Amino acid sequence: MKEQLENIKRSAISEIETSGTVKVLDDIRVRYLGKKGELTSVLKSMKNLSKEERPIIGQVANEVREMLEVSIKDRKLSLEKVEQNQRISAETIDITLPAKKVVVGKKHPLDKTLEELCDIFIGMGYEIVSGREVENGYYNFDALNLGKEHPARDEQDTFYINADTMLRTATSPVQVHTMENQSLPIRMVAPGKVYRSDEVDATHSPIFHQIEGLVIDKNITFGDLKGVLAEFAKKFFGDKVEVKFRPHYFPFTEPSAEVDVTCVMCGGVGCSVCKGEGFIEILGCGMVHPKVLEMSGIDSKKYQGFAFGMGIERLTMLKYNINDLRLFYDNDVRFLEQF
Ligand code: DAH
Repeated sequence: MKEQLENIKRSAISEIETSGTVKVLDDIRVRYLGKKGELTSVLKSMKNLSKEERPIIGQVANEVREMLEVSIKDRKLSLEKVEQNQRISAETIDITLPAKKVVVGKKHPLDKTLEELCDIFIGMGYEIVSGREVENGYYNFDALNLGKEHPARDEQDTFYINADTMLRTATSPVQVHTMENQSLPIRMVAPGKVYRSDEVDATHSPIFHQIEGLVIDKNITFGDLKGVLAEFAKKFFGDKVEVKFRPHYFPFTEPSAEVDVTCVMCGGVGCSVCKGEGFIEILGCGMVHPKVLEMSGIDSKKYQGFAFGMGIERLTMLKYNINDLRLFYDNDVRFLEQF
């Protein structure tokens, strides 16, 4: 039996020393020291030994068991280290690899223009006012001095909801609400969507955006209007731009003008964009008509004012050399990511 124990010791030690993983080592432990293990069954069979032999063999058996336990413990520690090192090196992050590209969205060109316009006017002391997109005939037409016979009242231009309710055709009605509701003086801009029943083409859309401006105070002159809009044009298009005020007609202003700037494409020499003129129209403006002031309860003898309105799509097309307004609404990222 002693020999049997020696054999078990030898083969177990050699197996322990050559074991390659903690799992294999654990199997060895079970095979030798487990309940049904080889060493355990030898210990169990000791009851068959004589009284004299029992303590001697018992001592040897205990020594073998202790020895196996110690060497299993040692081997386990070193195998665990090896496995830990393998895990660490397998999990190492290669920080030299290129990172995953994060695609960040961009501001829509119309929003960029809108924010830029608001910044420019806020910088000049204007307040941003929002209006309503559904109006009635009084605000959309009458209060702006557009008589019943005015062509803009024709159904072709206006989306009617019913006989006296329509989608606003310009941001100008915000002027009227502001004059009615705010105390004087007024210095505001009102950006927003406007609606006209136009066919879609390169320069028209049934929904587009405008920004309206209104200043009402004492001693306001056409000179103030010119100063503000010339300053705006330089801030938006750049210092080199020249501004031209061309007489025009609008029912709600008197006198009225359209403002042209030197063509952003050719710098004023003349090209296909400005049709050889060297100038391009960017907005409408004028001194608020006394009738418009009076209709909103403002004494036109004491107060004067000027107003202006411009298309945000048009300004954006001119600034970035965009030749088709439909591009703004197509949502093609190849177009949008350029801004
Ligand atoms: N409402 C005009 C349009 O839609 C733009 C405009 C012109 C607004 C002159 C004004 C103005 O306030 O004074 O074409």
